[in-house]
Amino acid sequence: MKILLATQKPFSPVAVNQLKEIAGAEHELIIFEKYKEQSDLEKAVEQADALIVRSDKVTANVVNAASNLKIVVRAGAGYDNVDLQACSDRNIVVMNTPGQNSNAVAELSLALMLYLARNTFSSGTGSELRGKKLGIHAYGNVGRLVAALAGGFGMKVSAFDPFISDDVLEKDGVTPVKSVSELYSGNDIVSINIPAIPSTVKSINKDILDGLKEHAMLINTARKEVINEMDLLDAMRKHPSIKYGTDVMPDCHEKMKEFGSRYFSTPKKMGAETEEANINAAVAAMNQIVDYFKTGNEKYRVNS
Ligand code: 3PG
Repeated sequence: MKILLATQKPFSPVAVNQLKEIAGAEHELIIFEKYKEQSDLEKAVEQADALIVRSDKVTANVVNAASNLKIVVRAGAGYDNVDLQACSDRNIVVMNTPGQNSNAVAELSLALMLYLARNTFSSGTGSELRGKKLGIHAYGNVGRLVAALAGGFGMKVSAFDPFISDDVLEKDGVTPVKSVSELYSGNDIVSINIPAIPSTVKSINKDILDGLKEHAMLINTARKEVINEMDLLDAMRKHPSIKYGTDVMPDCHEKMKEFGSRYFSTPKKMGAETEEANINAAVAAMNQIVDYFKTGNEKYRVNS
């Protein structure tokens, strides 16, 4: 089978070499990195039986250009970049590789907390994480790891996740919180770890942001779409001690610069940019494809 690895943001060479090994003689791995235009991807995918992507946009045009395509694997967690309906309409299986890059993202969340707590290493007295109250917005693969790391820093951790029972949280030493607004108003730092799905897009809005404590810090390693950016700008103007650290540059990045060291965005999404996460996610994606062709295993399927 022809397996196209299409990554605008390439995996590390070590990860790509491992993919070549897994493909072996049975499959042909075609490497298509750092492409510029969607039309380039539409051309590259024409002969592919399988597609591995990161945040690359698998639009209906891409899907329709790929007449042999049987499976798309998003090597990572969030699959908001894949047009699931277009894939389902063609009976193309879509999978992700949950958990494979979560530790890298969780570590970056802590790095952003430290960086903002120390005023982006600019002048002025910073603060420590120890003893601070941390609220985790969604206790999934990343949220859990953020909680564990924060425990090591001596933070008091709580979480809101309507899909996780209180028992699970309490077993991890995490206090369950009953509502999103309670999570945001009751903590010094909030770590945003929700996926971008229709019910979460722009869900962190004025009602929630107005409840933030003075000196609160928001850390977003999820997706920019989950925050209402106009409301965020307003909240940061109204409350001159609130800080925002993000791994997903907001559309209002230029305006956010007015907040100086209260705001930081990585220039490019860096959460999953570790050798370990690259290897884990890429290898899992490849193994899932090989297994799907061999046995029909659809364990990580996300479309219907
Ligand atoms: C994910 O959803 O897995 C992360 O946001 C990482 O995305 P990336 O592969 O584009 O770095």
